[in-house]
Amino acid sequence: MADDDLFLRDLWYMAAQAASLKRGALRREMLLGEPVLIGRMKDGAVFALRDICPHRGVPLSAGRVMAENTVECPYHGWRFRADGGCSLIPSLVGGEPVDPAKIRVRAYPVREQDGLIWVYMAAPGRESAPPRSEPPKVPLEAPIPRWVESQIFSCSIDHAVIGLMDPAHGPYVHSHWWWRRKPREKVKNYAPLPNGFVMTRHKPTKPVYSLLGADVTTEITLELPSTRFATIAGTLLGRSFAVVGLTTCTPLDAQTTRVTQTFYWPAWLGFIRPFFTLMGPTFLGDDRKIVELQREGLKFDPRLMLIQDADVPAIWYHRLKKIWADSVASDTPFVNPLKETTLRWRS
Ligand code: FES
Ligand SMILES: [Fe+2]
Repeated sequence: MADDDLFLRDLWYMAAQAASLKRGALRREMLLGEPVLIGRMKDGAVFALRDICPHRGVPLSAGRVMAENTVECPYHGWRFRADGGCSLIPSLVGGEPVDPAKIRVRAYPVREQDGLIWVYMAAPGRESAPPRSEPPKVPLEAPIPRWVESQIFSCSIDHAVIGLMDPAHGPYVHSHWWWRRKPREKVKNYAPLPNGFVMTRHKPTKPVYSLLGADVTTEITLELPSTRFATIAGTLLGRSFAVVGLTTCTPLDAQTTRVTQTFYWPAWLGFIRPFFTLMGPTFLGDDRKIVELQREGLKFDPRLMLIQDADVPAIWYHRLKKIWADSVASDTPFVNPLKETTLRWRS
């Protein structure tokens, strides 16, 4: 599959945890196979620039952030603002036919929201157009990331996303005593969302959820390109609460995807943190290990299967992706064709 088919454009990708980027920090990241400098100016503003100096190609991430909120290239000291405009070429003495104001490095739209940094990856030719949307919002008041686990998966974004939505792997991949239970028939309702679909609110069957009280319910969404919200709501100690788990798959390149789980909960629920610390890395590690194993088969480019009903979310993902890619290519609105549906499987 060509990278152009693999990566959807005109969408936001989760690029970094906001707390990991202090003032004056510069970091080289790969996003959709492109080198992107993510940094924070002295005034606190986050920015994202193509990590290639337009002069002679040195990564700007190897430079430094200057007091006047520019990035200085380490090779000849050219300086760039957060909007990508060149503000200084130190070698000029005046009178040369070079105008720094006409020199730019690509600037990506960037947002700092809910403790995360999102970068907008525009379609070719629309790099300077305003974003078609805003990044996904965590559905809580003033959300603060309480627990984060990030792992690099050696697989394409597609296999990472499908793994997240795959309801049938649980008893095999996550067969830990604290998670496992005898497979049984599941009947779940799904409904369309603007850019994806949701497994509508239901009572979870896993015993581990009973730690969060008797009336706990969950809802799981998936929206393009790779944003999954799992919301657990209930009442505990007489107070209603919501815990939100946001999972994002960020494609670094065609074969490497960073999967990050960021959990949000109200401060008074702090005592649930040890459960995440204990189980979280193992849980995500299970998913990472199975795609590493899968790579051994995918090397040979086999034909794969998607079956009813357990693989229907994966079928929807591919279908929505195709429609999104077509809508971007033809510059027409994305129309989600999914309808409310009930899926049944055993897991
Ligand atoms: S390569 Fe960046 S200033 Fe020359
Ligand atoms: Fe999993």
